[in-house]
Amino acid sequence: THVVTENCIKCKYTDCVDVCPVDCFKEGPNFLVIDPDECIDCAVCIPECPANAIFAEEDVPSDQVQFIAINAELSPTFPTISRAKDSLPDADDWNGVGDKLQYLER
Ligand code: F3S
Repeated sequence: THVVTENCIKCKYTDCVDVCPVDCFKEGPNFLVIDPDECIDCAVCIPECPANAIFAEEDVPSDQVQFIAINAELSPTFPTISRAKDSLPDADDWNGVGDKLQYLER
């Protein structure tokens, strides 16, 4: 599967959604996750993310591995998003800020 990691939080650009052929993205208030049961590992979303937040599971950086479980945990509760929408208003200010997990809304 592929995994959305910390830098999506408070950015949520959603460019990833439009290229996904299987609608495997799920939307929370300030973060998206990938449903590991739906993702077909096509990888087309990776270069679309302005926050560079998406990785193949085997490529997730060591300080981001907890997001593998977070994507799996939140997928059943977040609704599907199948079309891109406006990013969060301060997305560009939050892009690249560290320690954003504390702001993740469930
Ligand atoms: Fe998040 Fe990047 Fe998609 S910021 S919503 S994973 S384009």
